[in-house]
Amino acid sequence: MESVLGAAAAGSVNPAAPTCTAHLHCAPTAVAAASDLVISTLNHSMDSWDQAPAASIIELVAAEILSSITYPNRKKADTLFTGGATESTLVSMLAARESFSQSPVLVCGDNAHHSVTRAAWMLGFEKPVVIPTTDGRLTGNAVADVLRSVSGPAVVNATAGTTNFGAIDELPEIASAAREVGAWLHLDAAYGGALLFSGTHQHRLYGHELFDSTAFDLHKLGWQPIGSGLASFADRETVKPLHLTADYLNAVDDTEHGVPDMLGRSIRTSRRADAVRVLTCLAETGRDGLGELVDTCVDTANQFHTLVGDDERFDVAGTGPGITTVAFRPHRSESTPSEDHSRRVAELRRRLAADGSVILGRAAPPSSPRGDCWLKATVLNPLTTRAQLSALLDTVAEAWARLPGEL
Ligand SMILES: Cc1ncc(COP(=O)(O)O)c(C=O)c1O
Repeated sequence: MESVLGAAAAGSVNPAAPTCTAHLHCAPTAVAAASDLVISTLNHSMDSWDQAPAASIIELVAAEILSSITYPNRKKADTLFTGGATESTLVSMLAARESFSQSPVLVCGDNAHHSVTRAAWMLGFEKPVVIPTTDGRLTGNAVADVLRSVSGPAVVNATAGTTNFGAIDELPEIASAAREVGAWLHLDAAYGGALLFSGTHQHRLYGHELFDSTAFDLHKLGWQPIGSGLASFADRETVKPLHLTADYLNAVDDTEHGVPDMLGRSIRTSRRADAVRVLTCLAETGRDGLGELVDTCVDTANQFHTLVGDDERFDVAGTGPGITTVAFRPHRSESTPSEDHSRRVAELRRRLAADGSVILGRAAPPSSPRGDCWLKATVLNPLTTRAQLSALLDTVAEAWARLPGEL
């Protein structure tokens, strides 16, 4: 066992390292990791109160606190704990489908995460309408245009923080277009939801409360281990279809005697007490503390965007970072065809990852030619400094200079 763990540790990427910036993949806080060990050891199972008496109550309290963040003015809001935004979106789409008497059609932008169309496919929705976006943001007008031609019920998905660029769709405008035709509104805030912790940045999610359901991951900008998804609902009645009775877990007479009924709070049966860890961390750091961590990451990403923009060795995408994401690549001269440059950038990224010096993502800005390859850095560690990111740029520039002429 020791050698397997040793091999896994030795061959890991370190998500805390300033050079490990490829994905929405954060380093958990020490308190989160320690809480996880306690949860694993006690192995509560959240499908029935008698397997997790205290953890059940803690989950219900955590759900209430988190609902007051995702839906601050909705007294009937509820939040379920999921394995991540993929599951949160699936549960949300299920609630959406059950709110209609016939199978709905999904309307989303081409900037939506693959889990959105996949959920609709898994649930047997009608063929989705995927709206092309020009700058990677879905607009209210585009949604309104499409909804005019949809005859049956619709589920509209908007994204608050796209995976590659942290773009935030036009939330209030999309919500009002969807409301006009009685569509269900789902918000994929897997990445951007954390802006709600921040007094400085929460205005960027203005309109989020108008959505019926929200997917939000605490294992992205939330410093929790993976498996910390939230599915929030504006009205807890809409998740009632998840309810079922299994006598060995939640017999009706037990529920009548006041035993908490946990089974309808997930599409899973056995499940971990992730809420215990989440509430432990919330109590330790506080909402404002989390907001400060988010603010720091946004500031660092802003500094990085400026740093790359001022560096003639590189081109940078956009006028600023998307939440905490910056897309950049070695400068392309006019005489280098875009495909040749992209091929070299892709090779650069592979070489940097293979020798472990810098782990960068790959992305293509919304209006770039098909197949275009840029590098992507996502700042998720509040301890990362401008100086470390400047050193990262030097490493990338040096590796670029070492690439063979012919590839
Ligand atoms: C915008 C968005 N939605 C959904 C997901 C899926 O999240 P998860 O991996 O937690 O299921 C991601 C993952 O990066 C994402 O960026």
